[in-house]
Amino acid sequence: MKEKEIAHRVLQRVRPYLNRLVWAMLSMVVVAILSSGQAYMVKPLLDEIFFNRDHSMLNILPLLLILLFLVKGLFVYSYSYLMERVGQYVVRDFRGKLYEHFQKLPVSFFDKTPTGELISRIINDVSIIQAAVSSSVVAMLKDFFQIIGLMGVIFYQNWKLALFTMIFLPLAIIPIVYFGKKYRKLSTQSQEHNAKLANHLHETITGQRVIKAFCAEEYEISRFYKTIDRLLSITIRDAQQRSISRPLMEFIGGLGIALIIWYGGREVLEGKATPGTFFSFLTALIMLYEPIKSVSNLNNPLQKGFAAAERIFTVLDIAPDIKDTPNAVQLSGFKKEIEFNDVSFSYEIGDPVLKNINLRLRAGEMIALVGASGSGKTTLANLLPRFYEIDSGKIIIDGHDIKSVTIKSLRRQLAIVSQQTILFNDTIRNNIAYGCSDCLDTDIVAAARAAYALEFVQQLPDGFDTVIGESGSRLSGGQQQRIAIARALLKNAPILILDEATSSLDVESEREVQRALENLMKNRTTLVIAHRLSTIKKADRIIVMQHGKIVEEGAHDDLLRQKGVYEMLYNIQ
Ligand SMILES: Nc1ncnc2c1ncn2[C@@H]1O[C@H](COP(=O)(O)OP(=O)(O)OP(=O)(O)O)[C@@H](O)[C@H]1O
Ligand SMILES: [Mg+2]
Repeated sequence: MKEKEIAHRVLQRVRPYLNRLVWAMLSMVVVAILSSGQAYMVKPLLDEIFFNRDHSMLNILPLLLILLFLVKGLFVYSYSYLMERVGQYVVRDFRGKLYEHFQKLPVSFFDKTPTGELISRIINDVSIIQAAVSSSVVAMLKDFFQIIGLMGVIFYQNWKLALFTMIFLPLAIIPIVYFGKKYRKLSTQSQEHNAKLANHLHETITGQRVIKAFCAEEYEISRFYKTIDRLLSITIRDAQQRSISRPLMEFIGGLGIALIIWYGGREVLEGKATPGTFFSFLTALIMLYEPIKSVSNLNNPLQKGFAAAERIFTVLDIAPDIKDTPNAVQLSGFKKEIEFNDVSFSYEIGDPVLKNINLRLRAGEMIALVGASGSGKTTLANLLPRFYEIDSGKIIIDGHDIKSVTIKSLRRQLAIVSQQTILFNDTIRNNIAYGCSDCLDTDIVAAARAAYALEFVQQLPDGFDTVIGESGSRLSGGQQQRIAIARALLKNAPILILDEATSSLDVESEREVQRALENLMKNRTTLVIAHRLSTIKKADRIIVMQHGKIVEEGAHDDLLRQKGVYEMLYNIQ
């Protein structure tokens, strides 16, 4: 991305706060004028008080100076507060936009992108932009106005000497440009490593049990050191360059001032200029040094900001490929049937996971999917809610291609208990009533009862208000699964997908949950994926998958009689 484009896009986000920015800028202009006024005042101060020995000026000038500082202070307050405020609002907006965008991105995006990296985008990169917007951009404007004002003073006091100093300006700019380029590169690298660091932390903190069980502490520690050492070497290179750039600038500045004293001092001695003029000139010049120096330093956060903004825009530019078509219709209740028509799908191009799937699920049926691990059962189930886009073929629901209906209305027809139980660090009530803010307590309790979760929930000290820990870690695996089942039951959708929904339960509870599920399945269309074949004997039809293909289909007894894959799987168990 070009800097111009990045800047333009960041400015677009700043636009809503334009009037505040205008106020801040006006304040900066006032501050710049007053600063120049301070430099100018050196002339009357010296000439009138010390050389002309004017007593009245001795009273007036210090008072004027106090007034000048007071007014300047007010305006400094005004622009720094306003800019900081705008910066914080921009942070909030960027975070919001990124999060909104994350919610729109398809499952495949999250399969590929490490969690820590996404967290780093929202937390670190956004703050870096804020630093660039509110400190650098302000600094740049403020310095720009100050430079103009002070230049005015030096040209007014002695234009020949001013022209002479101009020779040094280009000299001061060379290192600014040179270090700026290097800085942006380093900052990109450093942020990339920060993201890796975040990711490593995320994985190894959530995976503590595995690390401990496999005695992998040393391994993880050395991996962590590798990551932070790489980060260290980048930050050190960065520090080195910053440390060089400052004294270099100062040296150039000192060189200029030395020459001015040598040249200007002679003019005063020869009587061509008053000492007041000379010192006012010198004061303005020294004051000029500050903004010029900070222009050179502000380039750093600015470059950092560019790098961070680029990373953010790269994520924002990923078009969500699974979205409603412009004329998508509402799917209003599932009534007749779901049809998989010659569906093929691959996660990676050229590596098909599902091949030419043809399948019909009629309303009210219970269909079971069986097959070896990795045969594509979960993948097949994930296509129905359009978590992934199919490569070819069609999935038709009540006569509508699922691509032609709105995603929300499609997903509303489905309740899913996924293979990996996903619970949030919230109360049991909120986990069961997830996505349902107006669910009644009685319904939540009923769902918990049907999922055989009520008993253990009531035994917990806080009952339904118990907070269950990150990913439900304070519950047993079987309890987590029952909460997930209760959640699906509460959704009360016409199509139920159960992917190994009872796999973590003991035989006793499984039988109980099974009975509850059977009641529920009565008026519903159910797709059950199960490894334990004993749990699906009652299915209307059993679909047997192998290597991404449907190889057998029929009722339990028929399939046993066929003496094919199903019979083999059944006999092993
Ligand atoms: N997100 C993914 N990205 C890439 N490949 C995947 C992804 N998920 C699954 N696969 C691959 O697709 C194939 C089918 O996986 P799937 O999860 O559908 O199997 P499954 O039949 O549900 O197995 P199991 O019984 O173990 O749950 C596997 O070879 C797996 O490696
Ligand atoms: Mg699976």
